[in-house]
Amino acid sequence: QAEISRIRNISKVQFGKYDLFPWYFSPYPESFTQEDLIYICEFCLCYYADNKSFTRHRQKCTLQHPPGNEIYRDDYVSFFEIDGRRQRTWCRNLCLLSKMFLDHKTLYYDVDPFLFYVMTNRDEKGCHLIGYFSKEKESADGYNVACILTLPQFQRKGYGRILIQFSYELSKIEGKLGSPEKPLSDLGLLSYRQYWTENLVEKLLEDNASGSKCSIEQLANKLAMTPTDVESTLQALKMQVYHRGEHKIVLPTHLIKKHEASKEKQKARPKRSIDPARIQWKPPV
Ligand code: COA
Ligand code: NA
Repeated sequence: QAEISRIRNISKVQFGKYDLFPWYFSPYPESFTQEDLIYICEFCLCYYADNKSFTRHRQKCTLQHPPGNEIYRDDYVSFFEIDGRRQRTWCRNLCLLSKMFLDHKTLYYDVDPFLFYVMTNRDEKGCHLIGYFSKEKESADGYNVACILTLPQFQRKGYGRILIQFSYELSKIEGKLGSPEKPLSDLGLLSYRQYWTENLVEKLLEDNASGSKCSIEQLANKLAMTPTDVESTLQALKMQVYHRGEHKIVLPTHLIKKHEASKEKQKARPKRSIDPARIQWKPPV
């Protein structure tokens, strides 16, 4: 698909109460690229080239949340699970929308093999899309995330971290180790590195406190991460040493300090996280 690498073709999108400014090409109909502004319904994700047809659509559209089961709810967000095969149009529309912010290979048409985990926040008007990740129903490579996106208006607020945590909580319920599909984008890698680091440091501090010592495999099992991802994170942080014929994991002081400082910060403004006990989900059969 040569078109994937083509340059940005949509200038501006009205989406709910936000204007979006796309980053990359997305294969909307050719005629849409002539418009200064296009309209996307924030609930059904259908797209319109002019305000008149969009307004007409809004009067008829009854959707107020993503078309799937709500599998998680707390005071802050909800997650919905959507089957690509059952909700083909909606999922294709989601892929088209997210392609505007994703540089590399993404699917648009063959959504059937995927489940979509969609995160929303609620108000009196409905459940509004914040971000999502897709996941292959059967991944030969053991991936627990295919694509992941926080809509630009919500980025850098901690939502990506919640999406990533959710993907690992699902892997824990499945009793599997998971890893995101490669290659990761720059932003994807930054977010995963941050998530992996936080969680590994946390586990290692717990172990230090209890006097036990974890191997890479044990850390991987506890966090539902692959040993490869554990190892690459430890390497990037220079936490692996070879001492007296033994591989050891060390926790450098600067990382402990950084971890404590971020804990202090969280007391003032809590970092959001998923409460695993609220997940109502069984692995699809
Ligand atoms: N610059 C530097 N660090 C960044 C960053 C940026 N622009 N965006 C995220 N990070 C790192 C930070 O360490 C951040 O933690 P901090 O804010 O406490 O420092 C951590 O990642 C998590 O950030 P968070 O706010 O939870 O992530 P997000 O909601 O912005 O979502 C993505 C992260 C990757 C989902 C989002 O950037 C995105 O949708 N990008 C476009 C699509 C994409 O590239 N997806 C990945 C494909 S593999
Ligand atoms: Na999206």
